[in-house]
Amino acid sequence: MQTKIFTVDPENTDAKKINECADILRSGGLVAFPTETVYGLGAMATDKDAAKKIYSAKGRPSDNPLIIHIASPADAERYAYTSELYYKLASAFMPGPLTVVMPKKSTVPSEVTGGLETVAIRCPSHPIARELIRAAQCAVAAPSANLSGSPSPTESAHVINDMNGRIDAIIDGGCAEIGLESTIVSIDGDTLTLLRPGAITRDALLCVCETVNIASAVTEALKENERPLSPGMKYRHYAPKAPLALIDGEQNDVTEFLIEKSKAENCLILAYDEEIPLLTGVKYIGVGARQDLESQAKRLFGALREADERSVDKIYAHLPVKDGIGLALYNRLIRAAAHTVITVTKKDI
Ligand code: TXA
Ligand code: MG
Repeated sequence: MQTKIFTVDPENTDAKKINECADILRSGGLVAFPTETVYGLGAMATDKDAAKKIYSAKGRPSDNPLIIHIASPADAERYAYTSELYYKLASAFMPGPLTVVMPKKSTVPSEVTGGLETVAIRCPSHPIARELIRAAQCAVAAPSANLSGSPSPTESAHVINDMNGRIDAIIDGGCAEIGLESTIVSIDGDTLTLLRPGAITRDALLCVCETVNIASAVTEALKENERPLSPGMKYRHYAPKAPLALIDGEQNDVTEFLIEKSKAENCLILAYDEEIPLLTGVKYIGVGARQDLESQAKRLFGALREADERSVDKIYAHLPVKDGIGLALYNRLIRAAAHTVITVTKKDI
């Protein structure tokens, strides 16, 4: 299949190109498009055959449900049984990087929800995403536009790398601003459960809802035979080809440990800006300043993809703090590392 590539400026969107992509969606095709979190791979949310094409283009297991993207929060009524809490969340965080899981209506085919009776709804803020959904006049089901198992795409080059020849079109709209996928919560009466952390932090959610539980799979490995609250949690996502280990400890000890490791192994370090001047002769990719969690979030997936291209045997990254968007970084890194954490003390160096 020949994949058409449309370049669209998010600040000055081209209606002709957007309409052509919306036509592709309406006729059952697949279009990758930018959002503020990561690129999505879209299909009409009410078309079960189009949904099946998403699973095959990504190589995604069919029990892992898709998020439905809407143009305005009230459009959720067509697809889900909403509640007062949904509208509180919507007025605080939508459009934006929040996904809400609610009981589904029959307009959503079970192929889209992986057989679940709930549906995940999100109203993105990216202008291209919003205009595409509006022009399609239907919700757009969209997982991240990567091959299943590789890091989510944060720029069009990543999407082209994974999806060229497998889908009808890709809209190139520049770099994703946030770089990690949306926060996912499920509503249960008047409480929330955080299923996947993202840029909308738990503290922000607590301003709207008194009780925000964190699903154990956010930070812990699933136990054998445990059924996760969100099917995506059971898959080892974001895995670079070389094994990744997370390093914890005092900053100076960790840097020293990484320098020593680099002498003995063909390894690469996802490094903080502050330690780069110390890393002479060491392979590294800079991920931003130590305290700048937003920048680390934005760069993480691109850095994991780049690490794959550098033919190393091992990758080391810092264990992030679990505060704010750090919890989202922690969640992605701990899974990419298959929960391998090395705690460094002076005697290890
Ligand atoms: O930022 C994002 O959310 C991006 C952009 C494209 O919007 N999308 C995204 O989709 O990350 P995906 O498919 O890569 O991740 C969706 C996650 C999966 O882990 C899936 O298991 C979970 O959402 N999910 C979807 N529907 C669900 C449901 N009904 N109940 C629980 N989890 C659900
Ligand atoms: Mg994904």
